[in-house]
Amino acid sequence: MKKIIIDTDPGIDDAIALCYAIAHPDLDVIALTTIFGNVGTDLAVDNALRLCELLGVEIPVAKGAEVPLSIQPNPVADFVHGLNGFGEITLPGPSYNASNLSAAELIIDLVHKHSGEISLVAVGPLTNLALALEISPDIAELVSEVIIMGGAFHCDGNVTPKAEANLWNDPHAGKAVFNAQWPIVVHGLDVTYKIKFATGYLDQLAKNSPRTGGFLRDAARFYIDFYQRHHNFDGCCPHDLLALSYATNPDWFTLENGHLDVITDGESLGKTTIDTSTKANKFIATDVNSDALLQDYTAVLKQTT
Ligand code: BDR
Ligand code: CA
Repeated sequence: MKKIIIDTDPGIDDAIALCYAIAHPDLDVIALTTIFGNVGTDLAVDNALRLCELLGVEIPVAKGAEVPLSIQPNPVADFVHGLNGFGEITLPGPSYNASNLSAAELIIDLVHKHSGEISLVAVGPLTNLALALEISPDIAELVSEVIIMGGAFHCDGNVTPKAEANLWNDPHAGKAVFNAQWPIVVHGLDVTYKIKFATGYLDQLAKNSPRTGGFLRDAARFYIDFYQRHHNFDGCCPHDLLALSYATNPDWFTLENGHLDVITDGESLGKTTIDTSTKANKFIATDVNSDALLQDYTAVLKQTT
């Protein structure tokens, strides 16, 4: 089983991704670390714990940074995910507490303990990863891989014409993470817009697994409303899921290799770039086998109640 730590700002598509990761027989989710973005960091902790409760697991959850490294915090994305991050659907309260360690401390501890074995998957702003690198730069050589949802390399952004939300929320953290020596694969909007959960697809998930699928379908209504207004589509894009699908099925993805960077000032703040003339241990995903991914998600979620 692949040991993974997921850094997340749950969030409806985060919830879709976390349910998959926790239910997947090939993934051992050893910690959830939390970050601001879709919600504030305190709510991100609460939501991560509530999702663990829903799935009947007790995965350590650690609270991360409350603000970006250098810029003023942006408002949370409650117009996309609802005030509680789950489209105003309330999950039962958690039955255990968050870790006493900060997100960065827990990442450092676990990476040292399982040297060479950890996949670090980040589906929110990259502040916690940047802080972990700052405190303990050696982790860049000790993780097995870093998989990120974020950025918009060859396409428009979703919060500004140039920037995607996770990188826009902390571009300096993104720059530090992209420039560290660890191997990275980034799933930006270039590829995440290619996967769509239609309302009928979510209904089927709810039929198969009334508790988990039912929660995701109900929470996604708010998110779908946003997509209907802005993308004229009766469904939603489960952006964060692609990072987890890559962790289990990398062969479904087409990658491009190059040096990655993030613009940290001016009107292009948060824009991500790739220089394909420079070879590096950095990749972005540009395409994905959508049918395989959707079928796999259905099959994995069926393992939940
Ligand atoms: C990313 O931003 C968040 O709103 C989503 O959860 C995802 O991580 C998409 O731009
Ligand atoms: Ca997210």
